[in-house]
Amino acid sequence: MEPPKVCRSRSAGAGTDEWSIRLNASHPPWLGLIRWIAGLVLALVVVTTSAPPAKAEGPVNLDGAELFSLHCAGCHLNGGNIIRRGKNLKLATLERRGLDSVDAIARIARDGAGQMSGYGDVLSEGGDCVVASWVLEQAQNAWIQG
Ligand code: HEC
Repeated sequence: MEPPKVCRSRSAGAGTDEWSIRLNASHPPWLGLIRWIAGLVLALVVVTTSAPPAKAEGPVNLDGAELFSLHCAGCHLNGGNIIRRGKNLKLATLERRGLDSVDAIARIARDGAGQMSGYGDVLSEGGDCVVASWVLEQAQNAWIQG
């Protein structure tokens, strides 16, 4: 008798063997993938939770020169005034207007004056005084750095 051309019993047997090997294996092929994903998720959690806080919550920067260059230099570069040239930050001008004190400059920095709006919101707590004393120091030094 001729053997059947399509050997169903043999292929079925082989298939069953293969399947049972996979089921019994202690490390099924997808376990590696699951572990990899778990590791990735864990790494992401660690990275996101240990990220540094937003800059706004960081230590307050109270450097007069930096505050000035951030919030004032746009109009008062080197103690000038690009909008109202006469209302500059030179010592003689400040003296003439009675603004040659940290308090007076701090008040303008905070609340503004005339055409200038106040910067109390962006100069953080105490920043108005820090920038004002820096401005007065520069004025007394004729705005010559170094
Ligand atoms: C958008 C432009 C602008 C910015 C930014 C600005 N100022 Fe002024 N500042 C002016 C103008 C305009 C005047 C004149 C106001 C007026 O009397 O009408 C002035 C006036 C002043 C005066 C009075 C000067 C004088 O001779 O009468 C002081 C002091 C001063 N500003 C300090 C500061 C400080 C400190 C900052 C930063 C916190 C600052 N300004 C940011 C435009 C600006």
